Amino acid sequence: LQILVTGATGQLGSKVVDELVRRVAMARVGACVRNPERADLLRKRGVEIRQGDFDDPASLGRAFAGVERLLIVSTGGENATRIRQHRNAVAQAERAGVRFIAYTSLTKADSNPMALGAVHRDTENAIQSTGIPYCVLPNNWYLENEAASIRAAAAGAPLVTAAGDGRIGWVTRDDLAMATAAVLAGSGHENTIYELSGPPRTYADLAGVIASVAGREAKVEQVDLDTYERMLAKIGLPAFAIELIVDAQRAMRRGALDMPSRDLERLLGQPVTPLKESVARLLAAGTGGGP
Ligand SMILES: NC(=O)c1ccc[n+]([C@@H]2O[C@H](COP(=O)([O-])OP(=O)(O)OC[C@H]3O[C@@H](n4cnc5c(N)ncnc54)[C@H](OP(=O)(O)O)[C@@H]3O)[C@@H](O)[C@H]2O)c1
Repeated sequence: LQILVTGATGQLGSKVVDELVRRVAMARVGACVRNPERADLLRKRGVEIRQGDFDDPASLGRAFAGVERLLIVSTGGENATRIRQHRNAVAQAERAGVRFIAYTSLTKADSNPMALGAVHRDTENAIQSTGIPYCVLPNNWYLENEAASIRAAAAGAPLVTAAGDGRIGWVTRDDLAMATAAVLAGSGHENTIYELSGPPRTYADLAGVIASVAGREAKVEQVDLDTYERMLAKIGLPAFAIELIVDAQRAMRRGALDMPSRDLERLLGQPVTPLKESVARLLAAGTGGGP
């Protein structure tokens, strides 16, 4: 196989596979999935399915055999779990003789104060210490993470945030998938870090965009972190998710996702999809497309 994508039944990974089969011959693209029963769509498309669970190194070893270029899509869960899983993937890629590793990291991973940063720093280090040519692709905040808040704001609720005037380079999975596929199918991307970020905007900017799409006023409501945390608890989110979201808002306030970069635009070969267009698509899609 020329290119294998992990997390291929996930929201980002499946879009990367879609983009790849437009660029290279189908027979050269593979999908690494932990549950092949969920891979019917991919199989129907003619993509080779390889079973691999990040908690089962032997399965990853089999999945990565004969693969030239590998995309590791980060997994979910607690930091310690993800670190262990990602190390498994990198070690098995090395054993299998993979010649290029791309990895979906976090914006400014080396200095990002988010708790999640530890995972991405560890994985980037693990990849770099193999000596295998790599391309690190720090993904900024998915606009889709805000889907529920955007819909609510378009219906008249305030857009609540604790991020103050911190800027965020919101991106859509569609743009990320296109850029990631361009790296995997392209050449000359060895040993690079491409910050995949949209133009940095505040939540107030986002409210302005929602207002212009919805044709009604949309207000941002700034709250402190404790209030934000209490609000999340009220809607019944699990403690783990609350901690992650509050930590992200705290870091956003400090500019952790403020990343002016033209890397995404360069890889796309066209401007990043304008925020207004992405918000309009998200609203038109109704429910779904969330985090
Ligand atoms: N930048 C952001 O704003 C942002 C937001 C959310 C997440 N993320 C990160 O970006 C990644 C991709 O996002 P997404 O929206 O595509 O998430 P997603 O839909 O949850 O996809 C995650 C993928 O990882 C796979 N996976 C998880 N644990 C695994 C394991 N032990 N072995 C093999 N595969 C495993 C899942 O497999 P199944 O399909 O079998 O479940 C799924 O395909 C996430 O996993 C997370 O690390 C970033």
